[in-house]
Order: sequence, then C-alpha cells, then structure tokens
Amino acid sequence: MRTRLIAGNWKMNGDRASIKALIDGIMAERDNAIQSDVLVCAPAIYLPLVKSLTENSGIHIGGQNLSQHSSGAYTGEISGGMLKDTGCGFVLVGHSERRSFYGESSELVAEKFKAALDNGVTPVLCVGETLEERENGTTMDVVKQQIDAVLSLGSEIMSKGVIAYEPVWAIGTGKTASPEQAQEVHQAIRQHLSAVDNSMAENMRILYGGSMNPSNAEQLLSQADIDGGLIGGASLKAEQFNAIIKAAG
Ligand code: PGA
Repeated sequence: MRTRLIAGNWKMNGDRASIKALIDGIMAERDNAIQSDVLVCAPAIYLPLVKSLTENSGIHIGGQNLSQHSSGAYTGEISGGMLKDTGCGFVLVGHSERRSFYGESSELVAEKFKAALDNGVTPVLCVGETLEERENGTTMDVVKQQIDAVLSLGSEIMSKGVIAYEPVWAIGTGKTASPEQAQEVHQAIRQHLSAVDNSMAENMRILYGGSMNPSNAEQLLSQADIDGGLIGGASLKAEQFNAIIKAAG
C-alpha cells in the first residue's frame, strides 16, 4: 500500500506573520486518525521558522528547489545538504515554473533529483504537459521524456523519489484535470515505470497537482493511481488545506 502524500507548495508567498497563522491553522486541525503524510514546501528563507513551528507535529517540511551542486561559488543557490541541515525531508524538483521561467531542462532536473538523494532528501519530480502539448496529443511523450531523464540514472534512484503529475494548463488556473483525465496519465506513468521495474512502479507515489481544492480533492484522490496531491493556491489557506488532508484520510 502506498501512503498518500498531501503536499503544499507555497511558492513565493507569505511572511513571518502569515506563515505563523497558516501553520497554527493547520496544527489546530491535526487529527491523529489521518494516515496520509503531510508536507509543506515553504520559501527557503522561512524553512527554519516552519521547522520550529511544526516541531513534533509529524508535518514534513520541504524546499521548492535546490542546486545540482553540493557547495561552492554558486551565489544565491541552496544545496541539498543545506535543506537537510534545516530539517527538510523533501524538495520539489522540476516544477513547471522552474522549467519555464528559469529554463530548467529535464537533464538539469535529473541532476537536482540526484543531488537531493545524495543528501538524504526525497525529491518530488514534477512533470506535466502544456495546453498546446495536450491538444497536439503529445502529453505522454512529454511526460515520459521528463521522467526518462531521471530513469536513465537507474530505477534504484528513481524509486527513492516521488512523482507529481501537474498539467501546466491546470496550475493556478482553476481548471483542474478531470479525475478521468488525471487517472489516465497517472496510470500511463505507472505502466511506463513498470516496464523498467515493476515493484518500483507499484511503490511509486504519484501525486496530482493543478488547481486541487476541497471540492475536487476527494474525487481525484479516489482514482486508483492518484496517491496524493501537490497543492499551490489552496495550501495557503489552512481551512482549504485541512479539508484536502481530511479528504485524503
Ligand atoms: P495550484 O498549484 O494548486 O495553485 O494550481 C499547484 C502547483 O503549482 O504545484
């Protein structure tokens, strides 16, 4: 059985006061009956604050990006070792905003995936097609190419991460993939992995991301191959994030 993972991606939002209020709101509703893992990916500068606010709560913290390098003259960058040292268990790699605004290639994303693992941090590999690619019928070609960059490092490495399928056209747009559309891609991803290593495929957590909210979470999460969510906008409101956690159970 795959343990569900509900992950919040705060992106570049929040300040000390709003983050404290958000964490207080999430902590107030913590329910021991919830089996799913809960993760918040905060702006790097606030990770120590989030770590201290979530101490002993079981909530995991994660970065949103890391350098492919381990240390050195890379002004402005943050290493996997630094994330680990700050208490991060996870880090997002290859979010579509990183790929499109910062030109991150799938090869670079794969290097970052490996750099995270080298430091004991679990990478969450984000993949997904643009609207144009979906309309051209190339969704799976794009997603496979993004995954294959990591798979080429070996199934042993791939198996230590998490995948998040996030159709770019659904991110921050309010347009969610239908549960059937999402399931179709999740299933195809798992089949693609199983051609390489069946047990890795069966154990891989594949999250859905893109306008997940309290009203669509339950249906999306009820799909056989959807093992959780990567939530942007709705993770900034404790009430909404809590409702999604509850829907995951
Ligand atoms: P959204 O963002 O939930 O606001 O669509 C998801 C993401 O970018 O991870």
